Amino acid sequence: MGPDRLPTGIPSVDRLLDGGIETDSLTEVYGEGGSGKTLFCLQLATRVAREGRWVFYIDTEGVSVDRLRAITGADLDHILERFLLSSPTNLEEEARAVATACALAREGKRPVGLLVVDSGTAFYRLSLSGDDEDDARQTLSIAVADLVGTALRAHVPVLFTNQVWRSVRAGTLEPLGGSFLNHAAKTILRFDRLPGDRRRVVLVKHRSLPEGATEFRITSAGLE
Ligand code: GTP
Ligand code: MG
Repeated sequence: MGPDRLPTGIPSVDRLLDGGIETDSLTEVYGEGGSGKTLFCLQLATRVAREGRWVFYIDTEGVSVDRLRAITGADLDHILERFLLSSPTNLEEEARAVATACALAREGKRPVGLLVVDSGTAFYRLSLSGDDEDDARQTLSIAVADLVGTALRAHVPVLFTNQVWRSVRAGTLEPLGGSFLNHAAKTILRFDRLPGDRRRVVLVKHRSLPEGATEFRITSAGLE
């Protein structure tokens, strides 16, 4: 069984991805703060839950119910019935939450339609400045490897958001997580802020599609 596509519901992005994000592998979304990564995750999660499949959602930012309600409307309670939400507060807790979500997804008792880790690298970034940098790198790489394996075994899409750092020399915004994450992700999307509510989406890497770019807008009801 090859990969299926999960439509994002944003027509321009679905055209760019030839139908949506893929099952069986990890999709990385990176971009600066406010570029729309979290909204993108919430919107996809809402679509999946609305169709009756489970969403395993690991949230390191304390996603407020208000933000979710802005997307779901009156449907919120119904949507939350299909959410398995965990809110880790450090990298070790995040790694445990990933291990639990992966084990449950592989067990297959609940029909899982999407696994989200947002932000995947916020705690990792905090660890980079301390003496435990190598430990942090190892913890993150084990979690990402588990996600990659689970995507394939459970035939689900995994959405993993990544923060950026500014390369002063090159004058560019680069994803955290280094080359390891770069290889682990089979699809990589970069979100850029444009003036106002516009955002550019760049397809940086894909298993079977050419690189490309499109735009979406952030509205009170989500992305369109
Ligand atoms: P970080 O988690 O900080 O890295 O950011 P992110 O990439 O997850 O960004 P997020 O998805 O949280 O995007 C928030 C952006 O959406 C901000 O720029 C908000 O100003 C904007 N936003 C939120 N609600 C609305 C809305 O109702 N209308 C408009 N136009 N913009 C909104
Ligand atoms: Mg966010």
